Amino acid sequence: MKKLTAILLALTMILSLASFAAAEGIETIDPGKLTISTSPDFPPFEYTDDNENIVGIEPDMMKLICEKIGLELVIDAMDFDSALLAAQQGKSDAVVSGVTVTEDRKLVYDFTNTYITITQGIVSKEANNVTMDTLKDQTIGVQRGTTGHIYAEDDFGEDSVVAYDTYTTVFQALMNDQVSCILMDDAVAKAYVAQNPGLVLNASTYEPENFAFGISKGNTALLDAVNKALDELIADGTVQKLIDQYMAE
Ligand code: ARG
Repeated sequence: MKKLTAILLALTMILSLASFAAAEGIETIDPGKLTISTSPDFPPFEYTDDNENIVGIEPDMMKLICEKIGLELVIDAMDFDSALLAAQQGKSDAVVSGVTVTEDRKLVYDFTNTYITITQGIVSKEANNVTMDTLKDQTIGVQRGTTGHIYAEDDFGEDSVVAYDTYTTVFQALMNDQVSCILMDDAVAKAYVAQNPGLVLNASTYEPENFAFGISKGNTALLDAVNKALDELIADGTVQKLIDQYMAE
């Protein structure tokens, strides 16, 4: 028994030394840890499961990335707008929240390579069946700070848009007819429509959007390490496997 304990202890030491070595040169807000901010209302990318764990394509990707670079993953859950702000203000090391790469955001984050492309979709009650052609006559529900929010306000004006902090409240608003449709990422809309009978999803004509992780600006060591790990996970098919697995659920 003593021997086993000694072996285990030695193993633990070797493992922690290995991870220390791997993470050397990478500075994070909490040394040895990678703190990400996220809004877990975004299945299949990030959501809370029945055991209150934050799971999904992106938390799984980050776990694997952290193993590769030798940092411990810490997930800070909050509203999307706050998750963006946290990484911008250096309160998290990165925003990992289905973030679309945009020119404006490139000014505030160092984006990693992208790993998936989505487009905006329009969710409404079956009876309304809102399409791109009738979008201009609607009260559009959005999550605050998202690309859907930005597009809706730019194209139809503030008065046509109601912004909420989480998709849970956006969908409640749709169910209660406080908004007549939702403009949001189609891959996520699909998950909500599957769970809520009586809703339909229509395609939009907005430009495709690429997802990436927004690293706190200037942390080049972290950016490079995450990119290297991410590229490996893309190249060996792990990312696609996670996408297929979570999209099927
Ligand atoms: N892709 C959109 C954006 O970047 C929406 C992201 C919302 N993410 C979330 N976890 N609720 O604005």
